[in-house]
Amino acid sequence: MPSGSAPGKVILYGEHAVVFGEPAAAVAVDLRAEVYARPHPEWRADGATLDDPKYAYVKAAVERGWRGPPQWLEIRSRLPLGAGMGSSAAVTVATLTALQGMSGTFSRERVALEAFEVELAVQGRASPIDTSAATAGRGVLVLRQREEGFLWEVRRGETAWQVHAVDLPKFQLVVGTTGIAAPTGPIVAGVRERVEKDPRARAAVERIGQITLEGVAALRRSDLVTAGVLMDQNHALLNELRVGGPMLESLVKAARKHAYGAKLTGAGVGGSMIALTDVPEEAVTAIEEAGGRAFTVSVDREGAKVGP
Ligand code: PMV
Repeated sequence: MPSGSAPGKVILYGEHAVVFGEPAAAVAVDLRAEVYARPHPEWRADGATLDDPKYAYVKAAVERGWRGPPQWLEIRSRLPLGAGMGSSAAVTVATLTALQGMSGTFSRERVALEAFEVELAVQGRASPIDTSAATAGRGVLVLRQREEGFLWEVRRGETAWQVHAVDLPKFQLVVGTTGIAAPTGPIVAGVRERVEKDPRARAAVERIGQITLEGVAALRRSDLVTAGVLMDQNHALLNELRVGGPMLESLVKAARKHAYGAKLTGAGVGGSMIALTDVPEEAVTAIEEAGGRAFTVSVDREGAKVGP
């Protein structure tokens, strides 16, 4: 059966700031979404109509990415929903990959650009970080300018993001989920309002952009101490943007006892946090004792893939 699959991601540095064109870095993780397609008289996703709000991303992907006859889609995702791990981006990218694979037009760049349009259509404001990480796999760095490793450009109005592949040496990440589902769209809209009104919020966004560049440079030279300190600073700035939350705070504090650094990842408020650590089992236990669910993630090396 024709299919497409794509990984989730965690943002290492730069969430929210990237919406304003600042740099951000993410790694794709080894939890994937898979979409299988077979012809059917009417469109279906897991048996439901595409008008079911649960399938808003799938529907928007079909509208953009497919001219052929209707299909029955089966969607399998190992990514927790609303956890800041890019589950909607992974499902979107997997759907577009399956559809482009079937029409023989699959290209990573086309998938990444269409997936960004889908996120924009469904959730309002967005940056290309989630969709590009789910498409490219490995590490992804979004910059204002083009440098070595350039993959593709994503544009929206005045903002242009230059997406790069970045190969990072091995390091260990633990993800802790709060279990609190927090929709990205309204959180991003709240940050926009604060940044427009408050120069301190604008300054925080710019500082986060610098931290991303410093953090990626530290990870590249395997300077985990500096990379961790920068994660802590990034987290504090996200709190200034008021996208933190009490549960996130407890998990981050607990993890830091066993980590170089820790921060919320993704949209915030609820969702997830990450910890950069040498002792993942200890960090997992600490996060779970603080009331979260935790697991170690590995970096996905494949990105979007056409199946079978
Ligand atoms: O939807 P999430 O939780 O993976 O977070 C997305 C990251 C933001 O920077 C908050 C929004 C975006 O589109 O970049």
